[in-house]
Amino acid sequence: VDDERQVLDSIYDLFRRDYRVFRANCAAEAKNVLRQEQIHIVVSDQRMPDVTGVELLREVKEEFPDTVRVILTAYADLQVVVQAINEGQVFRYVEKGRGPEDLRDAIRQAADYYDLRMERKRLIAELQQANAELRKANALKAAFLDVASHELNTPVTIIKGMTELAAEDVEKPGGECFRGFVNIVQGGAKRLEHLVANMLKLLQAGSFESGIELAPVNVRKLLDAVEAQTSVFLAHRRQTLKITIEPPDAVLNLDRGKMHDVLVNLVMNAIKFSPDGSTIDLSVRAGSGQWAVGSGQDSAEGSSLPTAHCPLTTVIEVSDAGTGIAETDMPHVFEPFFGTFDTLHHSSGSFEYCKRGLGMGLAIVKKFVEMHGGTISVQPRTPRGTSFIIRLPAR
Ligand SMILES: Nc1ncnc2c1ncn2[C@@H]1O[C@H](COP(=O)(O)OP(=O)(O)OP(=O)(O)O)[C@@H](O)[C@H]1O
Ligand SMILES: [Mg+2]
Repeated sequence: VDDERQVLDSIYDLFRRDYRVFRANCAAEAKNVLRQEQIHIVVSDQRMPDVTGVELLREVKEEFPDTVRVILTAYADLQVVVQAINEGQVFRYVEKGRGPEDLRDAIRQAADYYDLRMERKRLIAELQQANAELRKANALKAAFLDVASHELNTPVTIIKGMTELAAEDVEKPGGECFRGFVNIVQGGAKRLEHLVANMLKLLQAGSFESGIELAPVNVRKLLDAVEAQTSVFLAHRRQTLKITIEPPDAVLNLDRGKMHDVLVNLVMNAIKFSPDGSTIDLSVRAGSGQWAVGSGQDSAEGSSLPTAHCPLTTVIEVSDAGTGIAETDMPHVFEPFFGTFDTLHHSSGSFEYCKRGLGMGLAIVKKFVEMHGGTISVQPRTPRGTSFIIRLPAR
């Protein structure tokens, strides 16, 4: 924009090969062009009869905020221009009469700046769109959780209840022929119940990251509960669960329900994947940063342990003398459904030797350990078997 035709024409000639250039010799004409064309850069002379360049560019900024604005001026107008630049109305100023290189430079920079800003705008829009989609997906997931917990659980409960009643009827005269059917339905219901419970645990763990409730937990009591829950299977397989707790009255800050699930899953795996009559080790070494000795109890042991022997992290280990895990499988065992779809080994039985389940157990275990801020790893045990090692940070 310049009121001098000659200046307009020479600038036009300078740029017309590299850019699409429009000329306007007053503010009104400039605005007309801006309304009709998609203008990226506006170059305006400062001294014009109707308005100054800075005034024009201020208005342009309001109506066309995406434009990059450059002012052409004589040295004497510098104060005004500095202010305009500082207020963001003008991107660059080019001194008049300094030759075409200065102006070329300014326009190149303005074009880069325009492209960058447009790219940023595009990326922000993309991000906002992705965020909106994520929010929608999250809402869907929450809705699915609601539906799954009610709609899936209810029929399972009904099937289980009814088959239990039917099982009683089977005992009555004439009911023998139904026994086989009822057993099958009951088995199916049990599997479905296990599946629904595990699916919900995994989904909930993924969507409610903060859903962990830490409270002091007496490790002995926790492990007793784990043993109680697995004792039927241990007995069936004539296996022994050897529990070690250091110090014996350790109290840890844990989410009791989740850590219970973690240990039951690991012990159940150890039961399944090791031979009849073998021993499974479950040990907890409480870190010094975590355990406290129960009041009124034998506190001498806790306080007499030298600090050097009490690492900060708590280490929980479940080891078996079973089949072991192939080295190539080790990195994948924590993935959901790992090891499934192998009909040879798949079984509804939850404790038979080498019978795999759905492959969700270890995925849940990992999630729950991570919710505690901890890590879990797996390693071979010598001479045979597998060790799962959980490390929990001091809190
Ligand atoms: N202690 C172990 N010894 C040998 N292999 C194991 C052991 N624990 C897990 N695995 C292997 O890792 C796989 C995945 O374990 P995960 O607990 O996730 O699934 P699962 O026990 O088969 O089924 P689910 O726990 O869902 O009922 C198992 O199928 C098995 O192949
Ligand atoms: Mg399992």
